[in-house]
Amino acid sequence: MKILFAASEAVPYAASGGLADVAGSLPKAIGAKGHECAVVIPLYRCISAELRSDMEFITNITVDVSWRKQYCGVYKAEHDGITYYFIDNEYYFDRDGMYGFYDDCERFVFFDRAVLEMIKHIKFKPDIINCNDWQTALIPVYYQVYYKYQQGYDKIKTVFTIHNIEYQGKYGKEVLGEVMGIPSYNAGLLEYDGYINMLKGALETSDMLITVSPSYAWEILDPWYAHGLDRILVTKQYKLKGILNGIDTKLYDPENDPFIAWRFSAGDLSGKAKCKNELLNELGMKDNGEPLIGIVTRFVRHKGIDLIRCVFEEIVRSGVKFAVLGSGEKMYEDFFLEMARRYPDRVAVNVGFIPELSHKIYAGSDMFLMPSQSEPCGLAQMISMRYGTIPIVRETGGLRDSVRDNGGTNGNGFTFKTYNAYDMLDAVWRAKADYSDKARWEELEKRAMGFDFSWSSSADTYIETFEEMIKE
Ligand code: GLC
Repeated sequence: MKILFAASEAVPYAASGGLADVAGSLPKAIGAKGHECAVVIPLYRCISAELRSDMEFITNITVDVSWRKQYCGVYKAEHDGITYYFIDNEYYFDRDGMYGFYDDCERFVFFDRAVLEMIKHIKFKPDIINCNDWQTALIPVYYQVYYKYQQGYDKIKTVFTIHNIEYQGKYGKEVLGEVMGIPSYNAGLLEYDGYINMLKGALETSDMLITVSPSYAWEILDPWYAHGLDRILVTKQYKLKGILNGIDTKLYDPENDPFIAWRFSAGDLSGKAKCKNELLNELGMKDNGEPLIGIVTRFVRHKGIDLIRCVFEEIVRSGVKFAVLGSGEKMYEDFFLEMARRYPDRVAVNVGFIPELSHKIYAGSDMFLMPSQSEPCGLAQMISMRYGTIPIVRETGGLRDSVRDNGGTNGNGFTFKTYNAYDMLDAVWRAKADYSDKARWEELEKRAMGFDFSWSSSADTYIETFEEMIKE
């Protein structure tokens, strides 16, 4: 099979969140099982000169953005056995940052149209196009409206993966004709609640919808999780399926991680203690036996930061340290920075997206806190476990599907159900109590490290799903 993954970001080229990890690692995992995979992303300014030097110019074409004709360069590079294509247009993508511009709708309309146009000009004819999140949501729409019956495009199946239903690409109705160039008799594909909603277009037109964990697939049928889309999703259950993400176990490998000071494994955890020591030193704190909780996240509401805010000082004062890394909403940044100022011996905060430090926190912390309000999959809890760092999570989405409470059999973390700060606090106290029992804790660390969160079995499920679609 030939599978083209379209995404707005992919490791190692451009990354701001978990989507980039998945777009960088799932194709590799499927490729390793004998299928041909390619990835296409925009050629952003932030892509380093070093990575650019390996790119080869393929062609330039003209892409329609409604009535406009826009230049589109196509570049190509090989990385770890996967072919990456890059869509170039300096007006749209040569900017500081990837998202958050007044014309994001137009930028990704251009990208989506360009991906489909590009197929005519490259040597890769996909059987499946797997789109990801709202930025690529118009690909299945354009496919249905304009490409399906063109020569060379028949028999392509479109798959849409929902990494987060909160971000939908919602705009005023004027974009339909003026920006998207969709005829008004097709408006019904995109109209929803008085807006033009790009994600809704993908729900309507894709052959298959995938969520990044099984639990999230049924959670989003509920208004509490669906950000307005439950009414349409309940009618699409026949093509909705959840497949748990994996992590790149080579990139995150305690036995082989160049970012961490000491290597370790489940067989010999002594290096982990040294990593903790080193991390605390680097963060200006002292190792006095207190547990260290890591937090690596985007500072946004759905990551559950409000619960953390509510009981943070209570936890710190009980003798717990925190290593926090993240960026996002100013009010949360300010909160954490204030805590670091107030408790310099116990709280260290770094604002930003710093991969090297994130590895050190995954490896050097004892516990990892992730009390998300919703979590389509979540990768950090799986990465933490790989480093023997015990997750404390709310039972939602992929957290629910990957973490089992240590109160039962075969536990690998601590969980709570209700979105309530005191329920979270209870999970933290239970973790802290177990931590004080060295033997019990080490057993838990080893058990967590033994769980297999590699892509292998999920890649099989993707492949089966794709194969079944092609048969139809
Ligand atoms: C989004 C989701 C996160 C998921 C990631 C990769 O960032 O919020 O839960 O792990 O996508 O699928």
